[in-house]
Amino acid sequence: MIFQYDQQVPVLFGEGAIGKLGEKVKELGCKKVMCVYGSSVKKSGIADKAKASLAAAGIDFAVYEGIQADPTDAMVNECGSLGVQEKVDGYIGIGGGSAMDCAKAAALLLDHEGPIQKYFTAPPSFMVSSVPVILIPTTAGSGSECSQVSVITRTEDHTKPSIFMRSTLAIVDPELTLSVPAGVTANSGMDAFSHAVEAITAKGRNPRSELLASACLEKIRENLPKAIENGNDLAARTELCLAANWAGIAFTDTDLHLGHNLADGLSATFHTPHGYNCILVEPELMKLCASVIPDKVAVVGKGAGAAFDGTETSAGIGEKTAAAIRSLMKTCGIPTPESLGLDRDKFIGSAAIAMQIDLGLRLNCPVDVDEEIMRTIYAGAYDNYR
Ligand SMILES: [Fe+2]
Repeated sequence: MIFQYDQQVPVLFGEGAIGKLGEKVKELGCKKVMCVYGSSVKKSGIADKAKASLAAAGIDFAVYEGIQADPTDAMVNECGSLGVQEKVDGYIGIGGGSAMDCAKAAALLLDHEGPIQKYFTAPPSFMVSSVPVILIPTTAGSGSECSQVSVITRTEDHTKPSIFMRSTLAIVDPELTLSVPAGVTANSGMDAFSHAVEAITAKGRNPRSELLASACLEKIRENLPKAIENGNDLAARTELCLAANWAGIAFTDTDLHLGHNLADGLSATFHTPHGYNCILVEPELMKLCASVIPDKVAVVGKGAGAAFDGTETSAGIGEKTAAAIRSLMKTCGIPTPESLGLDRDKFIGSAAIAMQIDLGLRLNCPVDVDEEIMRTIYAGAYDNYR
């Protein structure tokens, strides 16, 4: 087996690390940066902390405050044009995956002629920004601060093409996640959990990613319920920030696979949160994967809290792993699709949409997949999580 793992984005991690932003930006040689964030980062005072650190270091800045969930090509183009107009020489993305992904892609437009849609290629091409991009996550979920993916919604058809590029530096400050509401904490944590599940089981898997992703599963299993119960539990928040970051590093090497393809299908149909869509399909996906890589599915199962006695068949490993993931979902209060009023036929019918998108993810699944298999996974996700 041949595999590759890469040098990653440097990470400055710890309580209060956002206070080092100005200093780090100065070290990178920037004179004026664009701060990219949305309304919750503004309201929580996190944007002010970032600006104060920049000002203290004598760094000038402009702001783009228009980030909304699932950033669109139009948003990236607007954010990039503003950067050109303001003559910035660096981008700072502050927020969840949406703000960070937008900042990454917008930075490209400083020296790549727009619009950003020109760079939505299949398979995605690897792009390099001419200026530093510093990313500061405020949720423990996407891992976008270290992953090499920027996911942008194509307005034309609501699909989510990726651009591959890395940031220059990640600043992960667990204190910034204290204000995240319980529902967002749960969905973000389940996104990170899904990254780890798929990194361990992807065709492109490697031993280092498995190590990081396994630790991620355990940290989330132990700490996500605590952070949902008490948002001010800084120790739990810290472990979740590490977990999400490590999962981001893990899947950068391996890429994700069918779970995210299926989640994107649900996202296009129902516009439900990304992390929620991902975790709904992971138990059934593990049952599918157990037929070809039961040993790797068992790694996921152990991380999710399952106990194996060595007598299980491949199918048994899949079932136990699926049950352990569903049990964690229940503990974390993840609602059933039925309780949210999602129509079962439309849910299963998302397979037709999922088949039209994300070919690269699908090809990274250890099992060859067709629309019928996708329908079976969706049906199981709907019927077996009650
Ligand atoms: Fe994800």
